[in-house]
Amino acid sequence: MSQQHQDLINRDRKVTFHASTHLRDFAHGDAPGRVITGGKGINIVDKDGREFIDGFAGLYCVNIGYGRTEVAEAIYKQALELSYYHTYVGHSNEPQIELSEKILSLYGPGMSKIYYGLGGSDANETQLKIVRYYNNVRGLPRKKKVISRQRGYHGSGLATGSLTGLKAFHDQFDLPMAGILHTEAPYYYHRAAEQQGMTEREFSKQCAGKLEEMILAEGPDTVAAFIGEPVLGTGGIVPPPEGYWEEIQAVLAKYDILLIADEVVCGFGRIGAAFGSHFYNIKPDLITVAKGLTSAYQPLSGVIVGDRVWQVLEQGTGEYGPIGHGWTYSGHALGCAAALANLEIIEKEGLTENAAETGAYLQQAMAKAFGDHPIVGQARGVGMLAALEFSANPARREHFDPALKVGPRIAAAALDENLIARAMPQGDILGFAPPLITTRDQVDEIVARAKRAVDKVADELTREGAIKAA
Ligand SMILES: Cc1ncc(COP(=O)(O)O)c(C=O)c1O
Repeated sequence: MSQQHQDLINRDRKVTFHASTHLRDFAHGDAPGRVITGGKGINIVDKDGREFIDGFAGLYCVNIGYGRTEVAEAIYKQALELSYYHTYVGHSNEPQIELSEKILSLYGPGMSKIYYGLGGSDANETQLKIVRYYNNVRGLPRKKKVISRQRGYHGSGLATGSLTGLKAFHDQFDLPMAGILHTEAPYYYHRAAEQQGMTEREFSKQCAGKLEEMILAEGPDTVAAFIGEPVLGTGGIVPPPEGYWEEIQAVLAKYDILLIADEVVCGFGRIGAAFGSHFYNIKPDLITVAKGLTSAYQPLSGVIVGDRVWQVLEQGTGEYGPIGHGWTYSGHALGCAAALANLEIIEKEGLTENAAETGAYLQQAMAKAFGDHPIVGQARGVGMLAALEFSANPARREHFDPALKVGPRIAAAALDENLIARAMPQGDILGFAPPLITTRDQVDEIVARAKRAVDKVADELTREGAIKAA
């Protein structure tokens, strides 16, 4: 690493509080840093000009790839005209209007209006407020609890971190907050010994059964909503087992419980359909979008409100006056302009179709390279979302000792190959979510680099005696 790069990192260590970072180690120089200076296509470049394939599209968000001047120009053009005016009390800007029309037409019937925020966490915060308001207006003040899933990811604020079902987001923060519950994750691979003989269908039925038990134990008149990602994301990149959404939706309908589809990762093409809800035949009442909405060229998120909820919101403001909810930057003109340019690229270049086609190729290539690898328990995914779950004994789905930090070690080995893949936060899982522009040749390169990284760590683990005989 050059002295110039090192100096920049040292300055950063003194002044920046980084997200999801070992704060002490980073501040004291015991954890690595890197300054990213540019990007083009699926690659990013650091201060020394070292180029990496970004196999995770930032944080599964840079779907159109880096360096798209069309988006930069759209932002610039809008900034020359109007960067910002608030959207309170009926004020608007042209890109916001156009964007709302665009998103609603992409989704199809059933959705009514969109409220904009800046990121997935604040959008889910809006969802929680809508759910409360909805049942207060309906005269059901006890119906307020929200059920999420273990391993779900919905943000890292107080309320949204509570929705998240990952230990690191709760411990030391006194979370989850009261009124937010977690039901079983749809994680067939992790099924318990007594669930061993179950088919995916049977497992899905059991997940729905457990949800119903929870609703009945809490009292259906106290449960307002269920939130879930179409594909479990940060919790491990786990596509749902067969029949899961059908079974879950039947339970929710029975007890008048709203369904919030958190499409922050799946929305706008990632799994080969405009929305994950289309892919899995989910009929949500509310949808959360962010990430792929602008491909991260500007911070922007949205809450898409379905017809039945919208009618109640209108009724509520009829009774109580203007809604007490609003962010200064809601409907930011630069965010909306970036989103429009991004969605145009997705449409023109057929990136949703590419996510389906090249995504299927990615899944095949992963299965071929890792299907019978001695430390890979499962290679799974859908569209441009993939994961490798590592196992000390794949035949018995045994986990590695967490102290071995197998996931982070393999992510570090991939980095040595100039490939960014993400060690998912809970378990030894390496995640891939390349930009939707990725080609088959690039998939081959990603898989080849990943294979070298996994082989290298597998050799180390063999020498350490950490791999158990089948
Ligand atoms: C499904 C899902 N929802 C919500 C969020 C939170 O979004 P943000 O980090 O923009 O607040 C994320 C972030 O990864 C996510 O994956």
